[in-house]
Amino acid sequence: MEGLIERAARDLIASKHAIALTGAGISTESGIPDFRGPQGIWTTNKEAEAKAYERYELFLRDPKSYWQEMLGEKGTHGAFYIQVRKVEPNPGHYALAELERLGIVKCVITQNIDGLHRKAGSKSVIEYHGSVHKLRCPSCGSRRGLEEVSLESLPPYCECGGVMKYDVVHFKEPIPLDVMNEAEKEALECDLMLVCGTSAVVYPFASLPRAAKLGRKTSGAIIEINAEPTPLTREGISDYLIQGKTGEVLPQLAEAVRKWKLNRD
Ligand code: APR
Repeated sequence: MEGLIERAARDLIASKHAIALTGAGISTESGIPDFRGPQGIWTTNKEAEAKAYERYELFLRDPKSYWQEMLGEKGTHGAFYIQVRKVEPNPGHYALAELERLGIVKCVITQNIDGLHRKAGSKSVIEYHGSVHKLRCPSCGSRRGLEEVSLESLPPYCECGGVMKYDVVHFKEPIPLDVMNEAEKEALECDLMLVCGTSAVVYPFASLPRAAKLGRKTSGAIIEINAEPTPLTREGISDYLIQGKTGEVLPQLAEAVRKWKLNRD
């Protein structure tokens, strides 16, 4: 692994526009289980997974029941969102924030709804699947912080008259156009992509490394950092996999880049 970390540090240092893609794997060391790993939420609770696939239709059909379920009056989901809001970033999140401060990582595109990248200090973050800290109006696209909207009477309404939902993107729900376009632009512009802690099986997010591989003007490495190989590894979309914990590998990467910068300056 040592050799691969040095190689990745060299690739990062040589890059002009590196970005990082992240998934639930980067937050497991903060105490949030992932979805499809051995202890994953879907792996261990098939009923919860089935319910998750019905959530968006419930919002469209009966927004009041959707909110009652999301707030936990009828179901368990409230508890998960409450847990997610309580946890703290781990060294993996802080390392990406530092690589941004060092001018190397230009942007983080995350599937995670936990807000931990921003909490760790990353400034340029695209929340591809939304955030548990926000509400969104699917009619006009505007977002509000959770604390800005009263949930006394359900469902909450937007100034435009639309019904608001959690900003979180549920299964079968379209990705909001603003984040989809921003993410695609970054994937096509980047000359290096770190893909951290994701099983890379959920689309359209999983198409971003493929777009980068096939659609980019410049050639540059796609580097996976994950506990196990993924379809990106098996199909040769990524150039190499550093198999390990993001909370251990990313700090070593940031350290190697910081040292190089210090010696250079
Ligand atoms: N370090 C590195 N890899 C890890 C770690 C860790 N500490 N912990 C778990 N992993 C790996 C797992 O082995 C797995 O390959 O991270 C991956 C997590 O994959 P998933 O659980 O499928 O999570 P993710 O890819 O983010 O899921 C995508 O699916 O359920 C929906 O909307 C949800 O955003 C989510 C999307």
